[in-house]
Amino acid sequence: AAAGDPAITQVQPWAQMLGEGVDARPYGTPSPFEAHVVRRNVPWLTADPVSSVSFTPLHELDGIITPNGLCFERHHAGIAEVDPGEYRLMINGLVDRPLVFTLQDLLRFPRENRVYFLECAANSGMEWRGSQLNGCQFTHGMIHNVMYTGIPLRLLLEEAGVKTSAAWIMPEGADAAAMTRSIPLEKAMDDCLVAFRMNGEALRPEQGYPVRLVVPGWEGNMWVKWLRRIEVGDQPWHHREETSAYTDLMPDGRARRFTWVMDAKSVITSPSPQAPITHGPGHTVITGVAWSGRGAILRVDVTLDGGITWHQARMSGPSFDKSMHRFYYEFDWDGRPLLLQSRAMDSTGYVQPTKEKLRELRGLSSIYHNNGIQTWAVNEQGVAENVEIS
Ligand code: MTE
Ligand code: CO
Repeated sequence: AAAGDPAITQVQPWAQMLGEGVDARPYGTPSPFEAHVVRRNVPWLTADPVSSVSFTPLHELDGIITPNGLCFERHHAGIAEVDPGEYRLMINGLVDRPLVFTLQDLLRFPRENRVYFLECAANSGMEWRGSQLNGCQFTHGMIHNVMYTGIPLRLLLEEAGVKTSAAWIMPEGADAAAMTRSIPLEKAMDDCLVAFRMNGEALRPEQGYPVRLVVPGWEGNMWVKWLRRIEVGDQPWHHREETSAYTDLMPDGRARRFTWVMDAKSVITSPSPQAPITHGPGHTVITGVAWSGRGAILRVDVTLDGGITWHQARMSGPSFDKSMHRFYYEFDWDGRPLLLQSRAMDSTGYVQPTKEKLRELRGLSSIYHNNGIQTWAVNEQGVAENVEIS
């Protein structure tokens, strides 16, 4: 237009005065224009926000790392505000030397840096019987992907001297829920970490400050936060979280137990119900995330027509075992309706199943371990909706 674009021709408010100095924001927070990028909860899901879950805004993120302030939260008894000076980690049970570590003691062990996803076993659980929640934040947002700094649990167990009769460990949280789970010793000695940093900074209180257990590739419930004790034993404890919860009711009325590994899964994060296409037909970027508790993601395929034709997506970003992967698919949208799906394949050759296939095997009574393929229907206006097709 003749007048020109005022965003170019006029001096903007932020250029008409000096900005804040380097001392104004000693611990930085995002731009106020990003205020909509937040964790959200679904009030009707639980009776109370103290024993509840909030969801990671996956549709607003890119790359593979979840910013600390946006990592979904799942607490059974709220956030424990642990004083690091009073923090203790006890190792007892079938060990030669029961030990108690302070935080300072832990910092004298060799540490490692590893990127892992944590997915709650209940992620997508509300979708077992059909599409329900309109947005990938709610259908898939019980996941975060973080670089942990921590001590291999093996080193602490070796320090205590695990007896030959030992076969299981039981981590316990210091929160009012005193969360406990049984974990096979083999996993504990393999890749578990006793972590105290996330993405470089101290763990956030929501994520278990000052210390949490990291159980790579396995369901989030086992990643005990505010870790205060590890008991070593010769059999599982059969506690609440592995009997009444975190089991999968099968069609024959029996329940699967000890289904620890999170299988390969993916979701398109944009476009999606909370992230519609607003630019009309033409160049369009599809993006999403994929992960597997059994290894790396080798390949993600994307379909625009509900699975009739598949296109290999472009992976971009570091590929670590048991970490989130980022994929993109760029195409020219002709403005016609789309049925978007993504399908992940992991380094074991396992391919993410359709929801139909999953229900054939597992029935309709499950909550946990729903890794079925997600469909978004996009209309001519670019509005996306959570649907199922068969
Ligand atoms: N650890 C303790 N001590 N208390 C808890 O309530 N919730 C578990 C697990 N560890 C929980 C806990 C569940 S069910 C999940 S999914 C993860 O923590 C969630 O971790 P996050 O809050 O960092 O997302
Ligand atoms: Co959980």
